[in-house]
Amino acid sequence: MSIPKVVNKDGRKMLLVDDHPFILLSGEAHNSVSSSLPWMEPVWEKMRDLHLNSLLLAVSWQMIEPQEGVFRFDVVDGLIDQARAHGLKLGLLWFGSWKNASCSYAPDWVKTDPRRFPRAEQEKGSPFFYADFHGFRMPNTTLSAFCEETTRCDARAFAALCRHLKEYDTDHTVILIQVENETGLLGAARDHSDAADEKFAEKVPEELIRALKAHEGSLAPDLREALSRRSGDTWGEVFGSAADEVFMAWYTAKHVEAVAAAGKAEYPLPMYVNCWLVQGLQPGQYPSGGPVDRMMEVWQAAAPSVDWFAPDIYVPDFCGTCDAYTKLNNPLFIPETALHGGAAARLIYAVGHHHALCFAPFGIEDIGSLTDTSLGAAVGMDTSDAALRSLMDRDTYARINRLLGQMIPLLTSAYGTPRLQAVIHERPEENEMRFGSVAISAAFAIPGQPAAPGACLALETEEHDFYLLGYRCMPGIRSLDPGHPYAEFLTIEEGEFMDGRWTPSGILNGDEEHLRIDQPTLLKFRVHLLG
Ligand code: DGJ
Repeated sequence: MSIPKVVNKDGRKMLLVDDHPFILLSGEAHNSVSSSLPWMEPVWEKMRDLHLNSLLLAVSWQMIEPQEGVFRFDVVDGLIDQARAHGLKLGLLWFGSWKNASCSYAPDWVKTDPRRFPRAEQEKGSPFFYADFHGFRMPNTTLSAFCEETTRCDARAFAALCRHLKEYDTDHTVILIQVENETGLLGAARDHSDAADEKFAEKVPEELIRALKAHEGSLAPDLREALSRRSGDTWGEVFGSAADEVFMAWYTAKHVEAVAAAGKAEYPLPMYVNCWLVQGLQPGQYPSGGPVDRMMEVWQAAAPSVDWFAPDIYVPDFCGTCDAYTKLNNPLFIPETALHGGAAARLIYAVGHHHALCFAPFGIEDIGSLTDTSLGAAVGMDTSDAALRSLMDRDTYARINRLLGQMIPLLTSAYGTPRLQAVIHERPEENEMRFGSVAISAAFAIPGQPAAPGACLALETEEHDFYLLGYRCMPGIRSLDPGHPYAEFLTIEEGEFMDGRWTPSGILNGDEEHLRIDQPTLLKFRVHLLG
């Protein structure tokens, strides 16, 4: 089998695993659990029961290089062995210089040597502060992105990890790596260390200006305007009020590029970065310099070894965030999202509407037993989203993953085409999917039932032949062909794929033809147009 890779299909990035297109039906485990093989033991069976095909797990710099130059990979090897034994693929999350805009996962020998590995300074001379985040006083300090020694040592450790994976993981259980975690600086829009100040006074690199101009169409309006009105060549003169953030994004991405490139030189797995979102705040209130959607063009120019940008979605506006992260042909890859009662509908929508490469709720091992409200409050998250107070039902989530998992070859064969579409209750105004002369709609207000998250995915295999995955919705069909204005169902089968073959369990007709789908259900039918 070949190494997992990113390929381009009609201008879209697809992921090949064991030589076949792959979708990570996944979850991210709580980050400390993967530091211990005994802690991981009970997690694997839960993942199998949920019909996930992969799991995202943290591997930290602290864990693999506890003393400088002394590497240990026993836990990494154990994680790979455990995953392989349970038939799951792994995505590793490299917690190096950054984890949630702080450096808590860096080794002690890095943390205790601030001369060699200086911290970022939110104010001149001050490398530590308390972030007031949604009423939570979060202590924060992080390594400076402007220290070559930090970059060199982070890249050296990551390269050692990748070299080891190449030797140990010969059957490719590890399929990709996230490089760092939620990079950026909290507490100020830019680092004010002497090293950073020096760079800030320099000219903006021409390659950045060129790259931004090449993407003027997608650039945030303030950046576009700044470029057209620049009064000089330095960061402040070119980018005006956005200068601090662009500057931080460029140098943070440069650090990440050095780390990712060093890893890829050893073992070129797909690599991506994740992002703490803007959430209506100012740079520094969210990590300044991280790959937020308005900085994607900057990151793309600085970090060509990064294959895509991935949003961590804990905000109520799930659909808007997905839209923002699919500009620049960026494939939707959700490495973290809230594990609340809306997760199942969002999974269906992400795959069906955005042709996502990954959907991974955070803290997946706690599904059904803990709302994100308590966890969110503990990490300073905005907990005003009412959805956070609903639990995701484990069996429902497992069933959807089972149905989707069996359909991966079929789904990915339609990725990048209008043959695969989906709608969700969160966008009630967009509840119709159009396939040539047939429209399939889904109503989400089901008479007699309380409002609840739902989604509907439809896949056209041949003209007028469909599979439909419905969850808490009422699908309907109509003709878009004025010559044949009436649409009727021919045989509707309910069933699922087993070992790659459609296996019907029964036929729906009469009362049941008025589809009113509560539990996740997969249907196969043909539409007949007449009149
Ligand atoms: C986002 C981070 O990326 C994760 O590592 C984790 O801390 C979650 N937040 C917790 O909600």
